Amino acid sequence: MDHIAAVILSAGKGTRMKSGLAKVLHPLAGRPMAAWPVEAARDAGATPIALVIGHQAEAVAAYFRDNRDVRTVLQEEQLGTGHAVACCREQLAGFNGTVLILCGDTPLLRGETLTALIRSHRSHDAAVTVLTAVLDDPDGYGRVLRDEAGKLAAIVEQKDATAAERAIREINSGIYCMESGFLFENIGKIGNANAQNEFYLTDLVAIAVAKGLTCLAMPADDSDEVMGINDRVQLAEAAGILRRRINRDLMLSGVTIIDPEHTYIDHGVTIAPDTVIHPNCHINGPTAIGPSCTIDAGVSISGCRIGTGCHIKSGSVLEDAELHDDVSVGPMAHLRPGTVLANHVKIGNFVETKKAVMGEGSKASHLTYLGDAEIGRDVNIGCGTITCNYDGVAKHRTVIGDNVFIGSDVQLVAPVTVGRNALVAAGTTVTVDVPPDSLAIARVPQVNKEGWRLRKK
Ligand code: UD1
Ligand code: CA
Repeated sequence: MDHIAAVILSAGKGTRMKSGLAKVLHPLAGRPMAAWPVEAARDAGATPIALVIGHQAEAVAAYFRDNRDVRTVLQEEQLGTGHAVACCREQLAGFNGTVLILCGDTPLLRGETLTALIRSHRSHDAAVTVLTAVLDDPDGYGRVLRDEAGKLAAIVEQKDATAAERAIREINSGIYCMESGFLFENIGKIGNANAQNEFYLTDLVAIAVAKGLTCLAMPADDSDEVMGINDRVQLAEAAGILRRRINRDLMLSGVTIIDPEHTYIDHGVTIAPDTVIHPNCHINGPTAIGPSCTIDAGVSISGCRIGTGCHIKSGSVLEDAELHDDVSVGPMAHLRPGTVLANHVKIGNFVETKKAVMGEGSKASHLTYLGDAEIGRDVNIGCGTITCNYDGVAKHRTVIGDNVFIGSDVQLVAPVTVGRNALVAAGTTVTVDVPPDSLAIARVPQVNKEGWRLRKK
C-alpha cells in the first residue's frame, strides 16, 4: 500500500522504568524498544517515519541516524500526545495520505496488524481509525466510548472518566490511522482543559464525530500486540513474548530448539535447518549459523558466522569469530574477535583465541592461549601452549607453518615464526625463529641427585 506515513511518539521519559536510559532505548531481543514499532511501520509500507523524541533525544536520534526513512522530530516539552503529533506538521508538510500514529513503547505490534488497520480504515473512508483491545484489567488506559449503534463516539482518559466509563474494558491502544488532511487541519483545535492539562491526541475522535466524519474502532485480534511497556516487569514480559516468536519461527523453519523457554536468540540471528540448540544458549546478532550444527547447553555466541556441521560444546563463549565447516569448539572455550577457524579445526577445553587464524585440520585441544597468531594447516598445538603476544607496550604476531607440531607447555615469544613441518619440544620457550623441518628444544638439562631425600631425613 502507498501514501502511508508514520508518526511514532517517543518523547516521554518513562518514569516508571526508574532508569538512566531513555525508556525507548531499553533493549528487547537485541535492539532498542523503539526499533520494533519503527520496523512494524516500515513493514506496513510507511515512509517517511517521523519519530518524536524529547527525553534523551540525542541518544535516541543517534541510534536511528542510519535509517534513511526515519526523521526525528524534537518535542522540547512534553505537553501531551496531541502536541507531540502537532510537532510533526513540518516534517509531513508535503505528505498527503494515511498517517499511522504509534508509540515507541509498543514493541510487540506487528506490521501485518497495521496493514489490516489501514485496509479497514480505507475501506470505510474513515477519518480516524483506532486500534483497541478488550482487557480484563483496563486500568490506566483511555476507554473507548461507543454510541447506541456501537459506533466509536469518543475516547476518555482514565483520569477524566466517570465510574461508569471506567468500567468499560475496551481500551485505546494508542495506535491510530488518520487521514493527513483531517489530522493537520484539526490538531490545532485540541485544548488542554483536562485532568492532566495535556493536549490529548484522543480528542480528535470527538472532533471527527462532531463533524460527521467516519471514526472506527478496530479491536486487535491479539491484545498482547498493543501492550505498552511502562516498567521493567512489562519489559521482561514483552521480551518473553518476542523470544517465543523468534524461537517459534526458527523451529518452523527447521531448527531444533530443545527448550524454547530457556533459549535466548536475538533479532538479527539466522540459523539454518537441522541445527540443534540446547538450553540456556544466548545467541546475539548479527550471527549466522549454518545447517546441521550442534550448540550445546550454556553457549554464548555474538557476531559470529558459523558454517555447516560445527559442534560448539557447553560453556563456550564466541565473539565476532568466523568458523568454517565441521569445526569443534569447547567445552569452556573462548573465541574472541578476529578468530577465523578453517574446516575441521578443533579447539578444546580452556582454549582462548584472539585474532587467531587457524588452517584446515589444525588442533589446539587443551589449556592454550593463541593471540595474534597465524597458524597453518594440520598443526598440533600442545596442551598449555601460550603465544606471548604482548610485551607490555605492543602486540606482536606469531606465525606457525603447516604441519608443525608444538609440544606441551611451549611459550612462543612473539614476534616469532615457526617454519613448516618443524617440531617444538615440550617445555620450550621459543624466542628465535625456528627453521622449517627442524627440532627446537630449549630446556634446562635435568639433574637427578640419587638418594637426596634419604640424606635429608
Ligand atoms: C495514551 C492515550 C491513552 C491510551 C494509552 C495507550 C492519550 C491522551 N492517551 O495514554 O488513551 O490508552 O496511550 O498506551 O493519548 N508522548 C510524547 N510526547 C508527549 C506525551 C507522550 O512523545 O508529550 C509519547 C510517550 O513517550 C509515549 C506515548 O506518547 O510513547 C504515550 O504517552 P503516555 O504519556 O504514555 O500516554 P498515556 O497516558 O499512556
Ligand atoms: Ca503509556
